[in-house]
Amino acid sequence: MDKFLIRGGRALSGEVKISGAKNAALPILAATLLTETPVTLTNVPELRDISTMLKLLSGLGVEHCSQDSTLQIDASQLRSSLAPYELVRTMRASILVLGPLLARTGQAVVSLPGGCAIGARPVDLHLKGLVALGAEVEVQGGYIHARAKKLKGCRLVLDQITVTGTENLMMAAVLAQGRTIIENAAREPEVADLARFLIKLGAHISGVGTETLEIEGVEALDGDPVEYEIMPDRIETGTFLTAAAITGGRIRTTHTCPHTLDAVLEKLKEAGAEISQGSDWIELTQRSRPQAISFHTAPYPGFPTDMQAQLMALNCLAHGVGIITETIFENRFMHALELRRMGADITLEGHTAICKGVDKLQGAPVCASDLRASASLVLAALAAEGETVIDRIYHIDRGYERIEAKLARLGAIIERVHE
Ligand code: UD1
Repeated sequence: MDKFLIRGGRALSGEVKISGAKNAALPILAATLLTETPVTLTNVPELRDISTMLKLLSGLGVEHCSQDSTLQIDASQLRSSLAPYELVRTMRASILVLGPLLARTGQAVVSLPGGCAIGARPVDLHLKGLVALGAEVEVQGGYIHARAKKLKGCRLVLDQITVTGTENLMMAAVLAQGRTIIENAAREPEVADLARFLIKLGAHISGVGTETLEIEGVEALDGDPVEYEIMPDRIETGTFLTAAAITGGRIRTTHTCPHTLDAVLEKLKEAGAEISQGSDWIELTQRSRPQAISFHTAPYPGFPTDMQAQLMALNCLAHGVGIITETIFENRFMHALELRRMGADITLEGHTAICKGVDKLQGAPVCASDLRASASLVLAALAAEGETVIDRIYHIDRGYERIEAKLARLGAIIERVHE
């Protein structure tokens, strides 16, 4: 298993190009199941989760070829409707094939994802929505069996805001008969990016980016070949900006989308960062010790749970006490226990983490438990005294493209060790 060896204490500076968003690329890849039309996707990040999705799509009959960050996809000949456990268990987002497969082929058999390190993460709302759209859904032997000759549009009110749930139901509804209204839809920019891709394919969707999506079903999405550019990754952007903040450096992120990061930038400013931005770049300079910040995570446009761990790392070295409440996932504080091993003063009380800033963190052997937890350990290690060895970095490879090369170019001393 690969490890990162990081020697901390250097202020990072320079420019970093942000990759395409993992959480936009995954649903958009799943959405190619809806069409016989050849699709070209650009700005696709090279990540383990993307390879997993491509493996899953290949098993269903989708052909693809890639060059750098461009992917050509041909889903004209589907030969299977099965998403097997072996793939789904390595990536929960595999559930995203359920809606499009069912809508295109009339059936889908998808392994239940089960829980993961950050919580139970059920998919009941995905299934409830599909049933309301007229599907027969059964769970048997760990698999979801869904069937529907033709889905029928209806009004769906989601009990809870769910990102992949909204995406799955929107993808199912584009080929349903009649109009579907999704109320309490997730407003995450990645949901809007998927909607824009579907519209380019010929879908009729209005209310994009709002909590009410209206979808007028069409017979098929088979027009001219489509090319689509995946939006920039706002979480990768936020992570690099936090790297500047925690090391007292200056980093400019380019090829990004500043307005998708409003809540994160607000908090970084509160921590004392100077931030300037243009239409597709953000630069952060941190001249003094950060101030501790308090926040709670919330669906977009609130503070993203996927940036919670990184800002907790910042609080560890800040002046004062920061209180973080996690409202989206029940068990998303695993990184706090590892950060403590580096000298952080964090007390956990249920869904709240109280972090008292310390003067110094010390390098230590630590272990990554999930994707964003590993990012927070990398950030802490970059600012810590001495050497940190981070184990289980396969988590970080799921969601950050060549992070060690990007960080090294900014001045970090970081090495990947193969074992
Ligand atoms: C997506 C993102 C993930 C991010 C999360 C929250 C992708 C591929 N992943 O995950 O990076 O951290 O949004 O912004 O885009 N829930 C239910 N029943 C359901 C569905 C969800 O109870 O059927 C609950 C979940 O357990 C969780 C909350 O709703 O507590 C929000 O989860 P959801 O938005 O669905 O997260 P994901 O789409 O899995």
